Amino acid sequence: MIDQIKSYLNEVQSFHSTSPQEIENFRIRFLGKKGLLNSLFVEFKNVPNTEKKEIGQQINTLKNAINEKIQELKSQSTESQQNSNKTDLTLPAENEPVGSRHPVSIVRNQICEIFNKIGFTIAEGPEIENDWHLFSGLNFPPEHPARDMQDTFFIEKNPDIMLRTHTSSVQIRVMQSGKPPLRQIFPGRVFRNEAISARSHCIFHQVEGLYIDENVSFADLKQTLVFFAREMFGMDSKIRLRPSYFPFTEPSAEMDVSCTICNGTGCNICKYTGWLEILGCGMVDPNVLDNTGISSEQYTGFAFGMGIERIALLKYQIKDIRILFENDIRFLHQFSGTI
Ligand code: DAH
Repeated sequence: MIDQIKSYLNEVQSFHSTSPQEIENFRIRFLGKKGLLNSLFVEFKNVPNTEKKEIGQQINTLKNAINEKIQELKSQSTESQQNSNKTDLTLPAENEPVGSRHPVSIVRNQICEIFNKIGFTIAEGPEIENDWHLFSGLNFPPEHPARDMQDTFFIEKNPDIMLRTHTSSVQIRVMQSGKPPLRQIFPGRVFRNEAISARSHCIFHQVEGLYIDENVSFADLKQTLVFFAREMFGMDSKIRLRPSYFPFTEPSAEMDVSCTICNGTGCNICKYTGWLEILGCGMVDPNVLDNTGISSEQYTGFAFGMGIERIALLKYQIKDIRILFENDIRFLHQFSGTI
């Protein structure tokens, strides 16, 4: 019996394979119900007591050797499979998913491009502002409601430090640091202490425009805005200017563009008026020029400001502004391929 066990042991030690099927056959041959190990145990019952100890030890050694061998071969087999996957250089490359630009970025880039064409350069200002740049320099009277805590996120009081509520603050910065002619746009993020709803958010984006030179007139403002509307919404777009009020412009106006969806015939997007409100604008108030050290005797200028989200909603016919901030991949994917 000892010789039999030894020959099995030799067989186990010299066995080698990476094929899962062959390894399984090997396991069944030795460890299966009717396998060689079990028949050794059956025979073991008839071994005389004097030899039991030695033969028992031999069978145990064989059993351990079988188990170790199977373990070793199995791990080699999965390793070799993994390696062969890794090294197959002939496989076609997997497509990496390409991201898409956010609709707010798409519209901001478009606005910048349109104004670049007619000589406006881009500048940016800080999101955290002081009272002078945000309100006082822009001719806001001390009791103006926009200065209220309800509209503005304050960071500090006395002296007042706050998150900017509009990009008009950048006007003051460039007028203080530069000399006319100034022809620039200022894209950026703004913050308002407002309840979030389908139509408004507490964080959004604006683009501000400023043109200051000798003899700049309201006609220049109007032509600039007509050019913008046609580039943005199509050559058939019409604009209309309604008188309005802003502390930093005089006269001031709000601009509507003919509804891009119904072409002015009336639909639920334009609330059956045929017009969509797009931006605020006006001639820079002489007080603002004087506040920033630019002579209001020598220079005039115009300014305008628009909300980027608002234009994105109209352009893509989105009904709820909140979806622009949710980063839902199913929504964002729709804009892939647009620059
Ligand atoms: N700052 C204004 C707002 O946030 C928008 C605006 C209106 C900007 C008139 C201007 C302007 O430059 O002339 O509502």
